Amino acid sequence: MSGVLHDDAGGESAVVLLHGYPFDHSMWGEQIDFLSAHGYRVIAPDLRGFGETVTQASESAGPSRRLKSVPLNEVDRTIITMADMAHDVAALMDKLGVADATVCGLSMGGYVAFEFVRMFPMRARGLILAGTRAPADNQQEKSARAQQAEQMLAKGMGDIADASPPKLLAPRTLAEKPAVVARVREMIWHADPRGAAAAQRGMAKRRDYSADLPGINVPVLIIVGRQDSIRPLADAEFMHQALGDSRLEIIEDAAHMTNMEQPEIFNRALQEFLGTDVV
Ligand code: MLT
Repeated sequence: MSGVLHDDAGGESAVVLLHGYPFDHSMWGEQIDFLSAHGYRVIAPDLRGFGETVTQASESAGPSRRLKSVPLNEVDRTIITMADMAHDVAALMDKLGVADATVCGLSMGGYVAFEFVRMFPMRARGLILAGTRAPADNQQEKSARAQQAEQMLAKGMGDIADASPPKLLAPRTLAEKPAVVARVREMIWHADPRGAAAAQRGMAKRRDYSADLPGINVPVLIIVGRQDSIRPLADAEFMHQALGDSRLEIIEDAAHMTNMEQPEIFNRALQEFLGTDVV
């Protein structure tokens, strides 16, 4: 699998998987394998500022198949907006000859999915919104993002990587799935602070997507972890009520990283949705 993009040309129906912050495409490992095995064409990029979009080594992965790269020496004060990322996704689909896809985003990936469906409504066959929310940040949340951006630029990702697992994962995951805990910590540890800071600034500037919800006229699957304190059930219920055509899947024993914590349940929900509603 390419470090930047998994594009399995096998199936007719494409699914785009958009990772959360501050992760990379590898958080979707279980979904990439599952969807590919079920005949879907899976496109799982590293979003701008993350994964191999910020390493020189990614040239070897094939520049023609990458999302736009971030020059390392120019990113320190940069803002990477959710719309920038959505444009990158559309450009990547163009490059791959994919006209439309079901777009699945977790948390920050969900914000990118909102932008994508707004800018390219004809290119989204369906949406899967996991651990995300529609409203924009309040002033306090924006300030916290600015502060965290400065902190990671000054000190790197180590402290954040160490502190994050208990916030992102359910107690049962922490107790019983050490490989998932290690993987989450490792992804954060390896995130580039400049890309992560730029995305933090971009998230702080994102629009309020609430008013978009009634106008989204593709099927939507909302997934939320019962124990997610970052994007709790109330955020999912708000979207479910405002959307015209949506179903809500609540995953027990999972917090923010539902797809990694309970991959079998997450994948079954994807399969049911893709099989009945979208394809
Ligand atoms: C994420 O997991 O992508 C983040 O929690 C998104 C955010 O900070 O709003």
